[in-house]
Amino acid sequence: MGSSSPTQTLLLLLIGLTVFISASADPDNLQDLCVADLSSGIKINGFPCKDAAAVTSADFFSQGIANPGLTNNTFGALVTGANVMTIPGLNTLGVSLARIDYAPGGLNPPHTHPRATEVVFVLEGELDVGFLTTANKLISQSIKKGDVFAFPKGLVHFQKNNGRVPASVLSAFNSQLPGTQSLGATLFGSTPPVPDNILAQAFQTSSGTVKHIKSKFQPKK
Ligand SMILES: *[C@@H]1O[C@H](CO)[C@@H](O)[C@H](O)[C@H]1NC(C)=O
Repeated sequence: MGSSSPTQTLLLLLIGLTVFISASADPDNLQDLCVADLSSGIKINGFPCKDAAAVTSADFFSQGIANPGLTNNTFGALVTGANVMTIPGLNTLGVSLARIDYAPGGLNPPHTHPRATEVVFVLEGELDVGFLTTANKLISQSIKKGDVFAFPKGLVHFQKNNGRVPASVLSAFNSQLPGTQSLGATLFGSTPPVPDNILAQAFQTSSGTVKHIKSKFQPKK
């Protein structure tokens, strides 16, 4: 049992990798709770804790996703978060929810969550959902009421209501604030804008086409 066998070395490597992977989600909290002081000017990773004496059950409570969100927008879908911004008690706990409502035909357009894996549970209706791996493989499926589908952390994904009635899902995230980058809005609606020549070259198209797409993503005045 002197020197370690290749199997033991592999095992050690795997354990090391597992520790590394589990340390790459939101960090574990070092105390019972740390209710976010959202008005503090202090900049840290997350939010500073408010005075423990001022903590109440309201800090852990929300009715913000009790009712369907309004879907009369460009894409016919609305994401309503139940995260640290609305439930300050979630600060440092590494978890949050959202509900997403979809009009018939509504699309939650391709986007990524840089800080979280997402698991959706279909509350009502039917959806076509999918995500893309870094090898550009599309993993997609149709899901209906009661079904669960997972979108791995950081990967581009979408959901579309292909039914004739409204649909909705409950989303769970392993981050107090998963963050969202919607590809269309990020690339074509940023401030200041990404230069036309960058986008034209990236998408192998003309500046005219880029300008046309950009016009669809201008912030509504
Ligand atoms: C969406 O519907 C609500 C309620 O009917 C209305 O107040 C709002 O102005 C509508 N928004 C748009 C963008 O049409």
